[in-house]
Amino acid sequence: MYLVGAGPGDPELLTIKAGRLLQQADVVVYDRLISQDVLGLVAPGVSKIFVGKAPGHHHASQESINKMLVRLARAGHQVVRLKGGDPFVFGRGGEEALYLVRHAVDFEVVPGITAALACGAYAGIPLTHRGLSRHLHLVAGHCRGDIPLDLDWEALADPDATVVFYMALTNLDEVRKQLLTAGLAGDLPVALVESGTTNHQRCVNTTLDDMLVAVREHRIGSPAVVIIGRVAALARELAWFTPDGAPQPALLDDVSSYA
Ligand SMILES: C[S@@+](CC[C@H](N)C(=O)[O-])C[C@H]1O[C@@H](n2cnc3c(N)ncnc32)[C@H](O)[C@@H]1O
Repeated sequence: MYLVGAGPGDPELLTIKAGRLLQQADVVVYDRLISQDVLGLVAPGVSKIFVGKAPGHHHASQESINKMLVRLARAGHQVVRLKGGDPFVFGRGGEEALYLVRHAVDFEVVPGITAALACGAYAGIPLTHRGLSRHLHLVAGHCRGDIPLDLDWEALADPDATVVFYMALTNLDEVRKQLLTAGLAGDLPVALVESGTTNHQRCVNTTLDDMLVAVREHRIGSPAVVIIGRVAALARELAWFTPDGAPQPALLDDVSSYA
């Protein structure tokens, strides 16, 4: 059994090992954010099982996924459990690995490029940068079952840090208020990166004060990360990625509209 990170979308960002395992697998069990381009690397005729969870409703429970993995492994299949980004970063890879261990199923973990790193790189935002950011926080902006966010806001409100929120669009107003209350400046740069590394990538440059307005103005939707910190302003100079068909790098300034 291989728990494999598929990276953020661009198939060329897969590791060589992930690409090889996809071609050798006889069953691939995959999540919602796996791109069609990545699935296209699976050999024809191989069984591809979708177990993704859409916001608001669950396609397959975690328990049923765990049981399926054990059943497939015991049946002797070469199984790739394919997850978006990295399996051990907000991907429940740890939960699945624990279940496999407890059911005596051997496994390997193949890391993938997590969304924060990929979106930073493709948006032209170094997540650490001398003189601007010395720490990096990766934070889930959503809790299981819509439980209110319970984060150490004082620790996150560090002007020398970069904070990357995953899954935060629905709680963005709460994030904004808490970080402002904890002492961050309203004009702190923020970048919203939607569908990073794909041909649909968009990056909106905004501020902590304005980020909610920017999300609404530009109709930013999932999947997106919110990069908060002084480094976010570097996208204005370093944006380089031009999705197919876009007239310029995928950079949207403040809340102006994208023609
Ligand atoms: C359940 S988490 C999975 C994270 C994944 N394991 C990783 O390492 O990137 C899903 C969240 O990751 C972020 N995400 C994943 N792919 C993304 C992409 N291509 N662009 C922007 N955000 C992405 C979004 O915040 C999305 O809501």
